[in-house]
Order: sequence, then C-alpha cells, then structure tokens
Amino acid sequence: MRTPTRILLLLCILSWAWMAPVIETSAEDSVPLDGVPPDRVAHYLHSVIEGSRTIYSQYLVERLKETVGLDATENWEEDNTLPLPAQFLAMTSEHVRSQNLGLSYKLMSLWPINPKNGPASLLEKKGLQDVLASPDDPFVWIEENKNSLSYNTIFADKAVTRQCAACHNNHPESPKKDFKLGDVLGGIHIQFPIHRRTEGGKTDHYVLPEMAADYIHAILEADRTIYAQYVVHRLEKKKVNYASANWWENNALLLPAQFLLNASELIKTLRLNFDYRLISLWPINPNNRPANEFERTGLKFMSESPHHPVKGIMRSGNQKYFQAIYPDRAVTTSCVKCHNAHPDSPKNNFLLNQVMGGIVVSFPLDREEGLVSFTPGE
Ligand code: HEC
Ligand code: HEC
Repeated sequence: MRTPTRILLLLCILSWAWMAPVIETSAEDSVPLDGVPPDRVAHYLHSVIEGSRTIYSQYLVERLKETVGLDATENWEEDNTLPLPAQFLAMTSEHVRSQNLGLSYKLMSLWPINPKNGPASLLEKKGLQDVLASPDDPFVWIEENKNSLSYNTIFADKAVTRQCAACHNNHPESPKKDFKLGDVLGGIHIQFPIHRRTEGGKTDHYVLPEMAADYIHAILEADRTIYAQYVVHRLEKKKVNYASANWWENNALLLPAQFLLNASELIKTLRLNFDYRLISLWPINPNNRPANEFERTGLKFMSESPHHPVKGIMRSGNQKYFQAIYPDRAVTTSCVKCHNAHPDSPKNNFLLNQVMGGIVVSFPLDREEGLVSFTPGE
C-alpha cells in the first residue's frame, strides 16, 4: 500500500504535476493520508501573526518614535503617523476575513481600552483568564455548528515593548494602569475550520495541508499588503518617511521584503520547522532566486497563470514537506517604482498588479507526529 503511493508521489514531483493541489489520498476510503494536527497549524498561524506584530512594534513603532519622533496614533490617517499595533492587526485580520477561508483572528483583553475588545463569550473570558495564569499554554476549544467544526485558540498577548505598557497605562479609557514590560495585556483569539474522522474507535481532528498553507499565506499576504499600502506607500506619499534597504542606519521604514523576512527569521528561532521565503525569477538579491526545480517551475507557471498557487509534496531525506508557492503581486506603485529603478534588479518594466515573484510556504508532514496510521499493522 505504501510503495505505490510513494512511487506515485515521486512521479508527481518528477513530472511537475504540480498544478492541482497534490494531496495524497488512499484508494479505499478517500481520507487524506496526511492531516496536520490543528494545534500545530494554530502555532504556525500564531507565529506569523506574532512575528509581524513584533517586527512592527519594535522596528517601526518603538524605534521610529525614539529615533525620529514618528508616533503611532489612533487617528493615524489624519495625523500622518503609524497605525497602532492593534489597528495594524485589525486591518490585516479584516483583509484575511475578506478571503473567505473561514480563518479569523482578533485581539482581546480583560481590561480593554476599546470595550468591543472585551471577551464576547464565557469561553473567551475563561481563555483570557487561563492565558493570564499560564501565558505559555494557549487555551483551546472546538466549536461545532451544523455541518462545520472550528478550532479555537487563545494565545497570550504580551507587552513586547515598553511602549505597549506605557501607552495602555496612560490611555484615559484603559481600566488598568500598571502594566509592565513582558506582562500579559490580553490575548489573540484565532479560529479556523477543521475536519474530524473516526477510525478504529478513535476520533481525530486534522487540517488538510493545502488549507493550512492557504491560512498561513492569507496572513502573510495581509501583513505584506497592509504594510506596503498603509505604512510604506502612505508615509512616502506624505513625505513623512521612506523605505530603505538601510533602514537601520537611515532610521527609515523596512522594505516590504525585509518586513516579511525579518518576521520569518524570528519564527525560525521558535524551531517549529516551518518556513516561508520570498522568491523571484528576477531577484534584486540573488539569494532570493528559486532554490530548486519545483520553485523555478512554480514561478514560471505563475507568471503565466497568475491566479493559481502551486502546491506539492517534497521529500528531503526521510522528511516529507508540504510546499506551496503563491503569487506575490505589485500591490502598490511603490513596489514597481523601487524594483524598476533598483540598480541590481534584472527586470525594469514591472507593472502595477503584476506578479513580481512568489511567497513559498513549507512545513513538515511527518507521520510519527501525525494523526493516524492508515494501514493497520504498518
Ligand atoms: C500608542 C498607543 C498604543 C500602543 C503603543 C499599543 N497599544 Fe494596544 N491599544 C491601544 C488602543 C488605543 C487600543 C484600542 C484600539 C481599538 O479601538 O480597537 C489598543 C488595543 C489593544 C488590545 C485589545 C484590547 C484593548 O485594550 O482594546 C490589546 C490586547 C493590545 N492593544 C495590546 C498591545 C500590545 C501587546 C502592544 C505592543 C505590541 C500595544 N497594545 C501597543 C493603544 C496602544
Ligand atoms: C524601496 C524599495 C522597495 C520597495 C518599495 C519594494 N521592494 Fe521588493 N525588494 C527590494 C529589495 C532591495 C529587495 C531585496 C531584499 C533582500 O536583500 O533580500 C526586494 C526583494 C523583493 C522580492 C524577492 C526577490 C528579490 O527581488 O530579491 C520580491 C518578490 C519583492 N521584493 C516584491 C516586492 C513587492 C510585491 C513590493 C510591494 C509590496 C515590493 N517588493 C516593494 C526593494 C523594494
């Protein structure tokens, strides 16, 4: 049973049959062979949200306030300032919701500045109390509605910079005034659809790998789009600040690519064995070239059919990885202008909305840690 599947897979990879999502299915029961455990998916999603949130708070909100006096304010549009970290997250979350994947996330607190951010149910309240008591353990529950199941998890949201605590303490609407650096200010509630199966009297929950990749990508794309449009593009247009590869020396904004890659570096330190990168057939930085034939062919395919991601299963030694490449588009004119004018860019005629490259997402599919063994006695 195992061998034919392996050969089939290998053939898929060798023949670049990557156009349709490649999901292994066993012939008898059409249950996917590899489901990703929901708690692992939740950790991936949380790490992406948290990675961008940390980069945004530390390298933009905190650093630019200290170095060039650029504030983050609630009325950022009129003030020509940075959106608050909570507003940045709310905008990305709205962008993700508009993708209709069933994935959603929001910030909450037991001491909300905005009463709308208080717990909306007893479970949310219990979750916030729980993560306050043990911030390293997310609170989890499964919700069942008619024909759908959703996985719900609340992660602690900590004051990662001094300003998180200071601004909340000083805000007239804040019910709590003594937050310190590192304290739990609230929580992030993440919700996404899952599947259930029962086999041999045992019930498991799982997420299809292609869905897990779509969820991860939706958040990455939202972070990237909101950052490029509402931070870089807007502040450049208003001549408040600008994006620069030397953002540290220049006290400037990180390039959109750096925003994504710095968050990705942060996530590597968590050792989740999950990764994402930006690649292109016309890279400014040669390190961002496709790393293998799958990535090269995927990028070529996307530059011709820009609406479809490319998904597949890769092997590296004994480890099986799910890999997906999503088109990365020029969402604002600043993407196009900067790349076309860059001395190291091999292509100088990008257009608005064109595919400039791809975002590669990959995570392990290991059976040992996975949920089920399909062949009894294997
Ligand atoms: C300059 C002020 C400011 C900074 C800095 C700031 N916040 Fe907030 N935060 C707010 C405001 C104002 C709201 C309410 C936004 C709204 O209307 O939804 C908020 C909302 C929140 C919420 C949702 C609950 C609530 O209070 O409404 C959480 C949780 C939160 N912030 C955590 C943080 C963390 C963690 C940081 C640092 C990464 C941070 N905040 C940085 C002002 C700030
Ligand atoms: C101000 C200049 C600037 C802006 C604005 C900018 N980029 Fe880039 N971009 C760069 C530089 C420089 C790199 C190389 C970064 C590195 O060293 O990894 C890069 C890297 C990339 C890469 C990886 C391949 C490569 O060229 O190395 C992609 C894809 C990409 N950018 C797409 C975009 C998109 C899409 C936008 C708009 C959302 C955008 N860029 C906005 C300068 C810019």
